[in-house]
Amino acid sequence: MDAQGPYDVVILGAGPAGLVLGNLLHRAGVDCLILERETRDRVVTRARAGFLAPNAVRILDRHGLAGGLHRAGREHSRCEFRTDDGRFTLDYATLGRGEPHTVYPQQELVTDLLTAYETAGGRVRFSTGALGVTGADSTRPQVTARGPDGALEHWWPRYVAGCDGRHGAARRALPTGVRRQHRDHGVTWLAVLAEAPPSLDAVGYAIGERGFAGHMARSPRITRYYLQCERGTAAGDWTADRIWAELSVRLRADRYGPLHEGPIIERAVLDLESDVLEPLRHGSLLLAGDAASLISPCAAKGANLAVLQAELLAEALIDDLRHGRPGPLAAYSERALAHVWRAQEFTHWMVHLLHGTSPFDNALRRSRLASLRTSRGAQDWFAENYVGV
Ligand code: APR
Repeated sequence: MDAQGPYDVVILGAGPAGLVLGNLLHRAGVDCLILERETRDRVVTRARAGFLAPNAVRILDRHGLAGGLHRAGREHSRCEFRTDDGRFTLDYATLGRGEPHTVYPQQELVTDLLTAYETAGGRVRFSTGALGVTGADSTRPQVTARGPDGALEHWWPRYVAGCDGRHGAARRALPTGVRRQHRDHGVTWLAVLAEAPPSLDAVGYAIGERGFAGHMARSPRITRYYLQCERGTAAGDWTADRIWAELSVRLRADRYGPLHEGPIIERAVLDLESDVLEPLRHGSLLLAGDAASLISPCAAKGANLAVLQAELLAEALIDDLRHGRPGPLAAYSERALAHVWRAQEFTHWMVHLLHGTSPFDNALRRSRLASLRTSRGAQDWFAENYVGV
C-alpha cells in the first residue's frame, strides 16, 4: 500500500473530468489521489477542445476554478453556415435561451485545474498508467498501475473514479454485460491545428457536396480546422498545400474572402463515433467524462459534459464519504445519463446537419438548413441546445 494511503478515492486520469473531481473532493476533505498515465508536460500542453459552454463556466466559477478562463478566455457567440445556397449567421447568444461560449484552450484549463489542485495540497502521480481495477463489487477495490520506474503499484481505496477517457483502464474493468450503446456515424474528419489567426469572427460550418469543412478559433494565433474526408485516409497524405486548397474551396474563399494561412502544427484523422455506457456505477467503480460516454465533436459537448459529470460525482462522493448519505451516489448514474443523452441527441442532430452520406440524406440536410436559416423557432431551439448541456 502507498505510504500515504489508503485513500478514499483513487481517480484515474488528469483530464478535465479527473481534475475537477480531484479539486472538489480534496477541498471537501476527501482524501484522494490522481493517477495519470502521461507526463506532466504532456498533460499541460496537449491541444484538445476549446469551447466552454456557459453551464461549464458556471460550475467552474462556483468552485473558484474559473480565474484563468475569465482572464484569458474570449466570449464567442456567432456561427456562420456556408452552403451551396449562400451563407447565413446565427448570433446564438441573442436567440432563445442562448448564451455565449467561452473560448479557452483545454490545455490552459487543465493547467489551471492542476495548479489549483496541487497548490491546495492535492496529490497526482504522473507517468503512472492504471493497468486494471479489480474487486469493484467490494468496498476495497484494487487499482494496479505501472509507475514511472516501471514497477507495479497497488492501491485499495474505497472508490475508484474512472476519468481516464475512452481507452482507459476503467472501461476495461467493467463487468461483462454492461450495456455499451455505440454509434459509428460513418463520417471521418481530418482535424488540423494551424498556427494562423482565425479567418472568420464566427465558428464556420461549410456544408456542401464536396464534404464538410469547419473553422473554430482557439486563440488569436491558433485556429482549429476540420475537413470531412474518406474513411481510411492517412493524415500524412494531407500536405499543408492540399489542406489549405481544400479548405479554401469548401469555405468558399473565392466568395467570402481568403483564409489566414499558416503552418499546420498538428493533423489527426478522426472517425466520428459516439457511445454511452450504462450504468455509470459498478459497485465501487464510477465513470465520468469520456470514460462514461464518448461524444462526437460536432457540437463541442465533450469537455462540458466532463465538467458537469465531475461536479455531480464529487457532490455524491462527498455526501457518501463525509456525511454518510449514500443516496446521491446511488442516483449518480441516472442523473448524469440524463445530461449525457440530451447532449448525444443534439450532437447526433448536428452530425446530420453537417454531413450527408446519401442523396436522400443530402436532401434532408438542405431542408434542415433552410429551417435554420428562415425559422425563428428553429433558431431559438438551436441556440438553446448549442450552448446547453
Ligand atoms: N491510467 C491513468 N491515466 C490514463 C489512463 C490510464 N490507464 N488512460 C488514459 N489516461 C489519462 C489520459 O492521459 C488523460 O489525461 O486520462 C486522461 C483522460 O482525459 P481526457 O481524455 O481529456 O478525458 P476527460 O477528462 O473525460 O475529458 C473529456 O475532453 O478534450 C475533450 O475530447 C475530449 O471531450 C473530451 C473531454
